[in-house]
Amino acid sequence: MRIIALKFIVLFFIIFLLGCNEKSEKVNLKTAILKDSITGEQYRPNFHFTPKKGWMNDPNGMVFYKGEYHLFYQYYPDDNVWGPMHWGHAVSNDMLHWKHLPIALYPDNLGYIFSGSAVIDWNNTSGFGTLENPPMVAIFTYHNMEGERSGAIDFQTQGIAYSLDKGRTWTKYKDNPVIKNPGIKDFRDPKVMWFEKSKKWIMTLAVKDHVEFYSSKDLKKWEYESKFGSEKGNHDGVWECPDLFSLTDQNGVSKWVLLLSINPGGPQGGSATQYFIGDFDGNMFTTAGNETKWLDYGADNYAGVTFSDIPENDGRRLFMGWLSNWQYAREVPTYTWRSAMTIPRELKLNETKNGYFVTSKPVKELQNILLNGIVKTEKKFEVLNESYLLEFDKIKSDTFSVKLANTLNEFLEISITDNNLVVDRRLAGNSSFNDVFEAKHKAPLNGIIIKKVQIYFDKSSVEIFVNDGELVITDLVFPTETYKSVNNFGDIELVTIYPIDLIFDN
Ligand code: FRU
Repeated sequence: MRIIALKFIVLFFIIFLLGCNEKSEKVNLKTAILKDSITGEQYRPNFHFTPKKGWMNDPNGMVFYKGEYHLFYQYYPDDNVWGPMHWGHAVSNDMLHWKHLPIALYPDNLGYIFSGSAVIDWNNTSGFGTLENPPMVAIFTYHNMEGERSGAIDFQTQGIAYSLDKGRTWTKYKDNPVIKNPGIKDFRDPKVMWFEKSKKWIMTLAVKDHVEFYSSKDLKKWEYESKFGSEKGNHDGVWECPDLFSLTDQNGVSKWVLLLSINPGGPQGGSATQYFIGDFDGNMFTTAGNETKWLDYGADNYAGVTFSDIPENDGRRLFMGWLSNWQYAREVPTYTWRSAMTIPRELKLNETKNGYFVTSKPVKELQNILLNGIVKTEKKFEVLNESYLLEFDKIKSDTFSVKLANTLNEFLEISITDNNLVVDRRLAGNSSFNDVFEAKHKAPLNGIIIKKVQIYFDKSSVEIFVNDGELVITDLVFPTETYKSVNNFGDIELVTIYPIDLIFDN
């Protein structure tokens, strides 16, 4: 009897706390943890990276070194909304099973640590290490909050730091910043690569409505080279998080690709990533085309960039993005933590009769986490797991429609209609946290003939790949209860379900 009474008291106390929590503007992290522990962290993905607690946005400093993929990320450990930015850190052998490591970079008197990149300085050009133990060097933006608050415009500068122990501990360079602000408010997100022809480092920097290229021999002294983009692509928002790399198409032709995230201005509103295909000669990037190309037509793949230093014998260009959108990232219904990264993808250059495109294919490592495939020929069937891959292949017709539903009549509909890939999340679950979340997202097929559709579902996200990434939609979704019923309305004979279990301790 006493125990029952005690349970009631605890329950009332929790309900009371939650009630207070709803009213307070900033969610208190302790209360939030309580809230998630009650719901069983129902939206925490099984096979996507999330921080254990606190706020996360962009992936940063992704680099491969000595068998480890490093993921650093924009991180605020003390709350579940954006705040003073740190670089969180995790490592993995396959970009899927992650191990959380201590925070790599903390804010200091030059500012918060905004987005940036990391490279292995193999030739020890910086002198921070030795040839035997080359330094891992992080290049990031300092965002000086006091500067911003005081109305100054020169509060973003670029800084560097190095690690001699595989990214475990970091030393900031004593003469930071290495690039001062020239009087421009948006001056950030340096992505650095080694340019072998001129034996120089090249930095691509997002500067308001364009990118600027800088070069350096030692990662410390940087020279301005050129700029690109004021008159190209989409300009409905600020340019952020660039990336520059070369890709080779199926016929052996190489081109340079420039990725650029923009917020707002994306095809579904808010954040998205556009790209340009052209040439880079070590000084300048040029492109003939002017149409805007989107890497992903979904609402929730932002600020993605690629890993540095992937060994030549691997040779892939590997990408991960932030699985959210600035329109509602701070309000999504998770509490202990906020945001996940997309599944890792391999970017490829594809020449088609309509020109060159960048495709995003789920990395082959994902095969290792798929449980045994179950072939279904019925139109309606149940899946037993909370996360899974649904694979539709040998698609012969241009109509396709599948509904993922739960017992509460919430459903997510994915279809090909009027030459568009369409994801309808209007009745998919909880969307009350923000007005724009309840939406239907469309991506034009532009002549793509559909042969295969893969749907990766992971509790609160869906990533849809047509023909190994010729067209991609990444969307968040918050079903009150997970979708276990699949209804296949298309002219499709068979579907394979690959269940996916929880693969690492988030
Ligand atoms: C992109 C971005 C970056 C910036 C970081 C701050 O999402 O706005 O431009 O460096 O987030 O957290």
